[in-house]
Amino acid sequence: MRSSLLAAMLCVGLAATAAAQDAKVAKGQQLFADQKCTLCHSVAGKGNAKGSLDGVAGKVSADEIRNWITDAKGMTAKTKATRKPEMKAYTLSRDDVDALVAYLETLKK
Ligand code: HEC
Repeated sequence: MRSSLLAAMLCVGLAATAAAQDAKVAKGQQLFADQKCTLCHSVAGKGNAKGSLDGVAGKVSADEIRNWITDAKGMTAKTKATRKPEMKAYTLSRDDVDALVAYLETLKK
């Protein structure tokens, strides 16, 4: 195969990956509103200012963000979080959790 063709195919592949990632982030942002995360958290001044998640990606790892969404009780105990009401347990599909994590990962300061 000619290398220019190979390069072109690689470009298309990367663009598709980037587009899929954008779609995931957009879905996560929508879920953040739909799941009422904003009752206790805010992003860019929207939602509950007591639980600002601005810059959360620079503070905790993607795994920790995932753990909060899938095991809020466990993380509350582990981090000794004292804020009330404490985060409730969510039962979301794997896709939804992935999208929320992808979205929150974009929140860097
Ligand atoms: C009933 C209130 C409540 C709701 C609803 C809620 N959370 Fe939380 N969340 C908390 C509390 C309390 C903490 C502990 C950290 C703190 O004190 O802010 C927390 C922590 C987190 C953290 C870790 C933040 C950090 O700085 O370490 C993430 C990420 C998070 N929540 C995401 C979410 C997402 C995503 C949703 C929606 C699916 C959600 N939360 C819904 C109350 C809530």
